[in-house]
Amino acid sequence: MAFAASPAALRPPARSLASAACRRLPAAAGRRRKGRSPRSLPAVSPPRRAAASSQSASPPQASAGDGAAPRPPPTEVPVPASYLEANEHHLGSLAEYETLYNQSVADPDAFWSTIAREFYWEKPWPADAPAVSWNFDPTAGPVYAHWWKGGRTNICYNALDVHVAAGRGDNVAFFFEPNGDDDDGRRRSVTYAELLADVCRTANALTAAGIRAGDGVVTYMPMGVQLPTVMLAAARIGAVHSVVFGGFSPAALAARLAAAGAAVIVTTDGVGRGAKWVPLKAAADEAIALAAAEYGHTVTTQLVVRGGGGGEADVPMVTGRDVWWDDALAGAADTAPVVWVDAEDPLFCLFTSGSTGAPKGVVHTVGGYMVGAATTFKFSFNYMPGDVYFCTADCGWITGHTYVTYGPLLNGATQVIFEGIPTYPDAGRLWAIVARYRVNILYTAPTALRSLKRAGDAYVTAHDTSSLKVLGTVGEPINPEAWDWYYSVVGDASATVVDSYWQTETGAHVIVPLPVAGLSLKPGCAQLPHLGIVPALLDDNGNVVEGEGEGNLVIARPWPSALRTLMGDHGRMESTYFSRFPGYYMTGDGARRDADGHLWLTGRIDDVLNVSGHRMGTAEVESAIVGVPSVAEAAVVGIPHEVTGEALYAFVVLMPGVEGNDGLRAAITAELRARIGPIARVETLHWVGGRGLPKTRSGKILRRLLRLIATGGGEGDLGDVSTLADPSVLDELLGRPVA
Ligand code: WTA
Repeated sequence: MAFAASPAALRPPARSLASAACRRLPAAAGRRRKGRSPRSLPAVSPPRRAAASSQSASPPQASAGDGAAPRPPPTEVPVPASYLEANEHHLGSLAEYETLYNQSVADPDAFWSTIAREFYWEKPWPADAPAVSWNFDPTAGPVYAHWWKGGRTNICYNALDVHVAAGRGDNVAFFFEPNGDDDDGRRRSVTYAELLADVCRTANALTAAGIRAGDGVVTYMPMGVQLPTVMLAAARIGAVHSVVFGGFSPAALAARLAAAGAAVIVTTDGVGRGAKWVPLKAAADEAIALAAAEYGHTVTTQLVVRGGGGGEADVPMVTGRDVWWDDALAGAADTAPVVWVDAEDPLFCLFTSGSTGAPKGVVHTVGGYMVGAATTFKFSFNYMPGDVYFCTADCGWITGHTYVTYGPLLNGATQVIFEGIPTYPDAGRLWAIVARYRVNILYTAPTALRSLKRAGDAYVTAHDTSSLKVLGTVGEPINPEAWDWYYSVVGDASATVVDSYWQTETGAHVIVPLPVAGLSLKPGCAQLPHLGIVPALLDDNGNVVEGEGEGNLVIARPWPSALRTLMGDHGRMESTYFSRFPGYYMTGDGARRDADGHLWLTGRIDDVLNVSGHRMGTAEVESAIVGVPSVAEAAVVGIPHEVTGEALYAFVVLMPGVEGNDGLRAAITAELRARIGPIARVETLHWVGGRGLPKTRSGKILRRLLRLIATGGGEGDLGDVSTLADPSVLDELLGRPVA
């Protein structure tokens, strides 16, 4: 199936998307604005508020806002006028977004091809074939989506060589911020020209290790400049990278090595994460042995970065298999030929967890992903040349792929890359980094925001965060209290909040409150479909829900950065995402459309609760509970109930120093009644201790475990808990002695 060209399709977009679409609204006198084109390491900026305590001296006290009755979060906030006035904009208004959006869905072929032509193609896609062809209906044949098939390009070339060739080689690509705040010796900046040379040397080393186009390369490394360098090097030679998060266990790594079919792994001797030293090479050795024993999979080469994680571990090397990184790169040339690949050749495979045990290897291809990553980065964050961008995600997750390695570099952006964690050495770390580099665009997760909010406002106000213009969040629905704190405390009500909804599978943002004049932001609401995204809500029978209503969130048309398959199992891809509602991509999330047509994510469909026939999203219930002062975080699961079918079981984390009691229980009940209705009654309240909720290292709550605990399981088989960031959380939840 291909889109038919309509007469409107033949009209070019109003103006070039990459260049002309940027303008400055009338500037207000005295508005803040940041420096441009940073070329060297900046010094730390002074605190923005004199009253705030200094970060390095005694730790700031939790602010009054944490315990005393805070004001309720607002329900609507216009995109701040000060943000609109002080910055240039790709989209001048909501109406302009609507015009562009309508073009993108009326004729996706013409719309996206106009953007695609702004990238370098060694060989253009065939002029006589549609740019996109697709089938989302497994009953009509194999599911597929192809964009620009037959065209040949390279994403590494577009991310690096293009900028260097255009004279931007001296611009900083990365400011590297080490795990230790005092580790000045490792703090460094890398220009585009330097990055290109390093990527070429790495590409040559990979080629020397026998890697060819189409082969898999697994990385198991800490966050730092070397990780995107390896990703880009693999992409340069047409290899397929699979980044495995450095916190995964040897067993999890072994399964991924085998599933990716990777003969080469790149690791480091170890990594410092917060105050801990994690021996990565030892874990990788164990994984390689497990991969051989359990999957019959052989790793032929292990490249080991010495001191890659800030310290140096004395690691044994296996002759013939293990090679020190420095030795592999020693004689390597700093130029390397580009391997031009088809737009539909695989770029990477990223494993993500499904509802079953086996990890799903989501495969993205070169051309569509490149166009989607670059375009969403630019529009969602209103990125302008000279902005400094900082994403706290690790490249082990999709956010680190699209919004650290590819989106920013394709736009020639300067970004901070952070090896550490937001709470080390204390909860002011992110804000110190924002001040040091005069960060304009910050992208982080609600879970991080909630824990930093809990630590107190003074950790923020001790630093100058006035350079911020866009505050992004990702990963889960953001509760209005965390949103409000981000907006008013971190952003000082002068930066706009972008609550970006997307998935590993979508490759790039799909629903986002774009930072445009005329939009009223709704805390907790992702709001608008991104360019080219055609969302729909379906009831459980597959009927389209029009207007205000709630349903299964699906996407009705292909978009460039959509997943193409699951590694080695196209059937699983079809059954997971396309079988239940043939003709649509099923996100697995529920959503509600409000009277303004804005989309609110209500949580995973597998987390939907049904109490007396009333459907409730876990996110909705949790957001209400977190609305009670002194509640820091909540997770709700359904337990079977003989009268109501399901009942709510709430795990509640309190602010430090607060004890669960009947008064708090009553406050939670009242809040739920007020926000949702009497039906939202918590059957069981489980006060969670200081170790918090069971989360993955990326901060996702492991609801499967909570469900088991809530239903009385847990003492026996908890299943695979290898993705837990802190296994002792389970002991505490189960009332066992904490390991
Ligand atoms: C959830 C992360 C609500 C959602 C990029 C989705 C969100 C899953 C949001 C994908 C958001 C992510 N609002 N829910 N802004 N962002 N999600 O693959 O349930 O790690 O399906 O990709 O996270 O998680 P993944």
